[in-house]
Amino acid sequence: MEVRSLGFRTDLMVRRLAGSLIEDAGDHLIVRSPRHPTFYWGNFLLLAGPPAAGDLPRWLDRFAVTFPAAAHVALGVDGTEVDMATTPEWEEAGLVGQSSVVLTAEHLTAPHHPADGVISRPLRSDLDWRQAVGLRVDMAMSEGSTSDAHRSFLETTVAEARALSDRGHATFFGAFVDGRLRSYLGLVDDGGPVARFQTVETHPAHRRRGLAGDLVYRAGVHGLARPEVTTLVIVAESDGPAIGLYRALGFADRERQAQLERTPPS
Ligand SMILES: CC(C)(COP(=O)(O)OP(=O)(O)OC[C@H]1O[C@@H](n2cnc3c(N)ncnc32)[C@H](O)[C@@H]1OP(=O)(O)O)[C@@H](O)C(=O)NCCC(=O)NCCS
Repeated sequence: MEVRSLGFRTDLMVRRLAGSLIEDAGDHLIVRSPRHPTFYWGNFLLLAGPPAAGDLPRWLDRFAVTFPAAAHVALGVDGTEVDMATTPEWEEAGLVGQSSVVLTAEHLTAPHHPADGVISRPLRSDLDWRQAVGLRVDMAMSEGSTSDAHRSFLETTVAEARALSDRGHATFFGAFVDGRLRSYLGLVDDGGPVARFQTVETHPAHRRRGLAGDLVYRAGVHGLARPEVTTLVIVAESDGPAIGLYRALGFADRERQAQLERTPPS
């Protein structure tokens, strides 16, 4: 299957570099991440288009057969402008349709608000990576997610980021305030012209002080300084807190990325 969506093409690039298995089943792709089994978007089917009316049970069966131990359902929908208005059929199956914005930039504009007293640099040491886990756990707790299972999920996610970094496929940057990591992101590429941002997050107590803006700008400039990289890709929720920041830094809306998801009951 030829994937049209730049969002999914770059997701698949990251998954491949992270060691996920990608199988072409003709009218869909199967993405498996055996070392990261509870990561929904590491274990999903990518369909060539939205499920046709009456076709959803077939895809749910396909998902269940492919991922028998999964508690979630994750169906990506290829395309660049897919209408993801939830249908009664999706709603009945407990699936929520999401449509994110894929933005790109060939050059960046420096942030309007400099991040004063902040040191932004790539993560290097064991301590840096431990702080990355700590930051992600703090963020999850602030959103009410405190389970051991979620902590273990975040540890695996950061370990995967570190492995990508160690193998030279990614640089993860941190913004440090008084020596503590308060904002974090990654930029991944496979040696081709496109680099994809990952996981832009700032500690809730340190937001709106320019940390993420500084990191996206510095990481982007670092990426574009590589001769092979011409385009930066970042994905954001259309009504989320990040999209305005990305646009102000020079990213332009390019297409929409569509997903159908059913999360396990908490
Ligand atoms: C989105 C997120 C990463 C932004 O992090 P942040 O460190 O607060 O980002 P910044 O401080 O650089 O910019 C945020 C806003 O504060 C503004 N700002 C920054 N410093 C400022 C200052 N000194 N004075 C006034 N405004 C300021 C920025 O202009 C930006 O404004 P905008 O929202 O109108 O575009 C953060 O809210 C977060 O972690 N959210 C949860 C995870 C998430 O949604 N991640 C994005 C995934 S795509």
